[in-house]
Parts: sequence; C-alpha cells; structure tokens
Amino acid sequence: MKSTSVVSTRRCGAARLLWPVFGACLVAAVIGYKPVVIVHGLFDSPGAFVNLMRFINQSHPGTNVSVIDLYDHSASLQPLWTQVEGFKAAIYPILKNAEEGVHFICYSQGGLICRGILSTLPNHKVHSFISLSSPQAGQYGDTDYLKYLFPQFVKSNLFHLCYTSVGQRISICNYWNDPHHRDLYVNTSDYLALLNGERAHSNSTAWKKNFLQIKKLVLIGGPDDGVITPWQSSQFGFYDDNETVVEMKNQDVYLSDMFGLKTLNARGDLYLCSMADVEHVMWHSNQTVYDYCIDKWLI
Ligand SMILES: *[C@@H]1O[C@H](CO)[C@@H](O)[C@H](O)[C@H]1NC(C)=O
Ligand SMILES: *[C@@H]1O[C@H](CO)[C@@H](O)[C@H](O)[C@H]1NC(C)=O
Ligand SMILES: *[C@@H]1O[C@H](CO)[C@@H](O)[C@H](O)[C@H]1NC(C)=O
Ligand SMILES: *[C@@H]1O[C@H](CO)[C@@H](O)[C@H](O)[C@H]1NC(C)=O
Ligand SMILES: *[C@@H]1O[C@H](CO)[C@@H](O)[C@H](O)[C@H]1NC(C)=O
Ligand SMILES: *[C@@H]1O[C@H](CO)[C@@H](O)[C@H](O)[C@H]1NC(C)=O
Repeated sequence: MKSTSVVSTRRCGAARLLWPVFGACLVAAVIGYKPVVIVHGLFDSPGAFVNLMRFINQSHPGTNVSVIDLYDHSASLQPLWTQVEGFKAAIYPILKNAEEGVHFICYSQGGLICRGILSTLPNHKVHSFISLSSPQAGQYGDTDYLKYLFPQFVKSNLFHLCYTSVGQRISICNYWNDPHHRDLYVNTSDYLALLNGERAHSNSTAWKKNFLQIKKLVLIGGPDDGVITPWQSSQFGFYDDNETVVEMKNQDVYLSDMFGLKTLNARGDLYLCSMADVEHVMWHSNQTVYDYCIDKWLI
C-alpha cells in the first residue's frame, strides 16, 4: 500500500525581507496546519483529487496532504469492513506522526469507510471529519451506477441480492437501505446497520465513544448531486416507507443518539453545508464548495 503525499514548499525564504509576507509565513510555520487525509469513493482513485489538493495548497500552504491509494476503481467494490482495515493500516502511521492530530476529507462511499475507521479506532486524534457527499444514511435509487453494476435489478428488487450474505460482500450492498424492507435491512446489513447502531451489538458503546473523539463533523451535500439518493442522505436524512424524506433531526438514529450525532450537535460540533448546482463528481473539484464548506475546517 502506498499513499500519494504532496507537500508544498513554503515560499518564506524568498520573501525574507517582506515583513508582512514573512509574518504570515511565520504564523503558518509556528501554528502549522494539521495534515489532511483524503479517502476516495466508489470507482475512483487519488487522481480525482488534484483540484482539491490545489485548493488546500493555495489556502493552507505547507499542509501535508495524503490521498490514500487503496481499493481504487473496481477494487472499491470490496466489502467495506475489508476496506476499513486496509485504509486504517495506511492511515495509522500518519496519525502516529501527527502530534496535533489530522483532518479527514472523505468523499462519497469513502465517507462511510471513514465512519468505520473513526468508530473502531480508539484515541484517533482526528479533528475535522469532512464528509463530502457521502450516503451516510444509506442509498436507495436507480442511478447509472446501479444500472451498470446490477443491470438485471432495479431499486425495488435489489434487496433480494443485497440483503443476503453474498450481497453483503459487495460494498454498495453494505449501505443499501431499502425503505420498504427496513426489518430485512436491520437484520442483514453487516455495515451501516451496525455503524448506525440500528442492530444491537456488543461494541456499540465503544464505537460511539471512539466516534465522538472527532472535534467537528461536517456534512456536505446538495440537491443536484444526481447520485446520492435521496441527496439528504449526505446529511443523515432518509426516506420513510412512503419515500418521503425525513430530515436528520427526526430520524431515530438521531433522536436516540445511537452513535453520537445528537451529542455532536449539542456540543456545537455538527455543521451542515448544502449547495445547489453541484453534480456528484464535482464536489471535490468545485472551488466554491471548497471556500464555503471545507476551507475553514482545515486549521
Ligand atoms: C503548492 O503551491 C506552491 C506555490 O504556489 C507550488 O510551488 C507547489 O507546486 C504547489 N504544490 C501542489 C501540490 O500543488
Ligand atoms: C507527510 O506525511 C507523511 C505521512 O505521515 C510522512 O511520511 C511525510 O514525511 C510527511 N512529509 C513531510 C514533508 O512532512
Ligand atoms: C429480523 O430479525 C428478528 C429477530 O431475529 C426476527 O424476529 C424478524 O422476523 C426478522 N425480520 C426479517 C424481515 O427477517
Ligand atoms: C467487536 O470488536 C471486536 C474487537 O475489535 C471484534 O473482534 C468483533 O468482531 C466486534 N464485533 C462486531 C459485532 O463488530
Ligand atoms: C403515505 O402516503 C399516503 C398518500 O400520500 C398517506 O395517506 C400516508 O399517510 C403516508 N404514510 C406515511 C407513513 O407518511
Ligand atoms: C460550483 O458550485 C457552485 C455553487 O453551488 C455552482 O454555482 C457552480 O455551478 C459549480 N461549478 C461547477 C463547475 O460545478
């Protein structure tokens, strides 16, 4: 396993006599920006993040940004617990090196992988967890991805495949959330239903404690996403059994604080950022999204 690591050189040397510039560089050098770890989504790879890396380099020069190069392209279909273990092993040395902690930016399916990491890794020192258009409450929609992956299925019958032990070996089935088969989802989802605490298990108290070590949860998404369905899933909203979207604050997982969402909100550490006119594949490459939703959390 490897990680793409790009570190920009501070230009303070050349500007030594320009006191205002030098002062700014000195501040950055003394405070230092926390390293940033990026986890990619379904069917993509670190190559998708060149724009995001540029935005970070411009606004926070000197930041050590690592885009983890694992489970790229079709390997991203592997079961999410497998991916959590792989990403965790790759990220662990970065965390160990970062006295002051790190930030996570996790895109699409990667946002669920990051939740798995943050729930199962004690004392992880992750400050901002930035979830960039991730189906945090699950996915239920006839998207192009679905047609490509499962041409013989539509959203209404995919549960026949997903809610089996064979289905659970495919990443997207790990967070497939059919609102018309809630019981089956709760009984068979080996990933999201456990992370959410919807199916009781012996580690849920420990997982909640681990997850709550984050300092800030930033949930980014928007109505023109086109892939995350419903798009509100990026902010923990989801369909009821009528396919009407119920917002996060009226969801059971929030109301009963099953894994810490309500606690984060009470602490003032839950931040929602919604933007229209952003397609799914553009979230990491849109400067407006970066400026309004991401920039301020990378200090
Ligand atoms: C970061 O910005 C500096 C200065 O503009 C540039 O020299 C460097 O190549 C940039 N690094 C990345 C990774 O974009
Ligand atoms: C950036 O972070 C990686 C992972 O911790 C580390 O191996 C590398 O040395 C760091 N680079 C710099 C210049 O600090
Ligand atoms: C889910 O599991 C419970 C408890 O084992 C069981 O009573 C129920 O029938 C199951 N529901 C479905 C739809 O499988
Ligand atoms: C609970 O955690 C232990 C130790 O990490 C692990 O072996 C076990 O599989 C976990 N149980 C569940 C339900 O994930
Ligand atoms: C579902 O929709 C129907 C028709 O709009 C409505 O009568 C019913 O009350 C709704 N059920 C729920 C649970 O919202
Ligand atoms: C970037 O996001 C803004 C704000 O939502 C939007 O107006 C703009 O069209 C987006 N640009 C691209 C290239 O997606």
